[in-house]
Amino acid sequence: MSDNVKMTALRYESDRPRAKNPVKIMDLSLRDGHQSLFATRGRTEDMIPVAELMDEIGFWAIETWGGATFDTMHRFLNEDPWERLRTLKRYIKKTPFSMLLRAQNLVGYRNYADDLALAFVERAAENGMDVFRTFDALNDYRNFETVVKQIKKSGKHFQGCICYTLTEPRLGGEVYNLDYYVAKARALEDMGADSICVKDMAGLMAPYDAYPLIKALKAAVKAPIHLHSHFTSGMSPMTHLKAIEAGVDIIDTCMTPYAYRTSHAAVEPLVMALLGTNRDTGFDIKKLAEINEILEKQVMPKYKHLLDDSKVSIIDINVLLHQTPGGMLSNLVNQLREMDALDKIDEVYRELPRVRKDLGQIPLVTPTSQIVGVQTVNNVLHDTPEERYRMITGQVKDLCYGLYGKTAVPINPELQKKALKGYPRGEEPITCRPAEVLEPELEKAKAEIGDLAADIDDVILYAQFPVTGRKFLEWKYGRSEPPASVRPTTLEKVKKRDELVKKALAGELIEKKADNPVKTANLRTFNVFVDGEYFNVEVDPVGGPVVPAPPVQGTAPAPVAVSAPAPVTAPAASAPAAAPAQPSGDVAGTLLLAPMPGMIVKYLKSVGDTVAKGETIVILEAMKMENALTAPCDGVVKAVPFKSGDTVAKGASLCVIG
Ligand code: CO
Repeated sequence: MSDNVKMTALRYESDRPRAKNPVKIMDLSLRDGHQSLFATRGRTEDMIPVAELMDEIGFWAIETWGGATFDTMHRFLNEDPWERLRTLKRYIKKTPFSMLLRAQNLVGYRNYADDLALAFVERAAENGMDVFRTFDALNDYRNFETVVKQIKKSGKHFQGCICYTLTEPRLGGEVYNLDYYVAKARALEDMGADSICVKDMAGLMAPYDAYPLIKALKAAVKAPIHLHSHFTSGMSPMTHLKAIEAGVDIIDTCMTPYAYRTSHAAVEPLVMALLGTNRDTGFDIKKLAEINEILEKQVMPKYKHLLDDSKVSIIDINVLLHQTPGGMLSNLVNQLREMDALDKIDEVYRELPRVRKDLGQIPLVTPTSQIVGVQTVNNVLHDTPEERYRMITGQVKDLCYGLYGKTAVPINPELQKKALKGYPRGEEPITCRPAEVLEPELEKAKAEIGDLAADIDDVILYAQFPVTGRKFLEWKYGRSEPPASVRPTTLEKVKKRDELVKKALAGELIEKKADNPVKTANLRTFNVFVDGEYFNVEVDPVGGPVVPAPPVQGTAPAPVAVSAPAPVTAPAASAPAAAPAQPSGDVAGTLLLAPMPGMIVKYLKSVGDTVAKGETIVILEAMKMENALTAPCDGVVKAVPFKSGDTVAKGASLCVIG
């Protein structure tokens, strides 16, 4: 392509001669960009200042929705996800919108029933979605059938994804080799894919694997080939260039402030690199610079505190070493930190490929990355030399049952048998399309949420997020006051905060005491919210007995009998010394303690119920995984101190059995 480069008379502006085969660009700033860098906290009001300018660039599409946005918006931002779509559509009129659709998982974390899947896609299309970038974590395209039917019916663009994953340092090996990807592309074309995306969510694709891969895909199918390759490992700009030389049609990039680290390469260097070649994007680089200027001045100050600045390096070498998404690795680190087990990280790295292999060498992408990650941590923390998989998450059980689809290689039969022992849907795994065993759920959701839902969009939100969705609808319709933590910040406030930080760093705010007192066993952790800011505060009472604060009831420590060490199904109780035994009123009995911090999804037992050891008492959501916590002993439920939606600390007493 270099022979097409003319070094003279090239212009930055878009009125330069058009290339023969311009690379098309999709911008991801407004979805994957802030999802990757700023914990998906991007607010609609911060997208509007650049929306009209972005519409002028000539992007093939702008990704605006899907992935984690639906979840975080209603949960943390008090924003209606449907409203974002309609609002942005008023500013971005020419450029098509793209969304990331997790196939039958929609924008949630499990397979939903067909009726909900159809309704979701239909409403997304009617609210303004154009391109449905669809992926399945297992690359099991039976999970595409229902949503694709509706994408086509709504007259929209079906982009089929192949999740790119490896079991070796480079493309190849037994499972994920060139033949695998070509076969997947053909399968997508047979399903009517309007374009095919190779989704390299972990940034694993090496430039010299991209070249033969894109060549092979271009030779095998007619549909345009789209490359989505995260920067995480640092390879993606090189990978982009080799993919472009191999004839890739569309590349994903971000505006500079949303680029690099675990996000994507920036668009501007690519535009310059291709300027004057036969693959010139034709973009006006001055216009791009104008957008950057606005973002830097008006938007990024509100988000920069969310950047992970724990390291100077913007590249995650661990990704190259472990072939694992960077987001998953940081989740694992956070999870271990919350459990005071950060010293176990090397064990986790060793255990992870074993768990993945046991679970059928599945790709690592939401939600399978969480499934493999959380199970790995569980194994490292709770397994004994005599017994592996002592605490199996609900999602691993579902995966073993076949509820996520077919794995790349069969699941370890021993693990499968153990996971399915007493599994409510049956102990025999299924081989059909997973949604075929799911009962319709839309009407049930409608009945449950009742008049709190004003329209079908509310119902669809609630159906996917029953706990946080209900909370959000209560805020939306004024039934309860949203907490200060979900309010947007302003540039004004950011300025004040920055000044305070500066003073604090200069030592002007705090008088340092000579000796720090030693933390005692009475230490309690509180979440404190001040004017939209969130602080985690540890309080250690000075002198005298502890007076526990709400939500734990009671004023004096009750006599507590913690169950015998090492019960099979209640790992929390197996480490009584580590868990601060919080009194639950003055009820005596055996405590079921939270093995990790999380949110109560629901209690399956209430006060007065007789329970047998091993019966599920409560479902606790932690790191987006649901954990069924079981009775550590036989008895009668004496106290249930929390309710659905409550956030609990590690070691909180979730149930007292007497
Ligand atoms: Co991505």
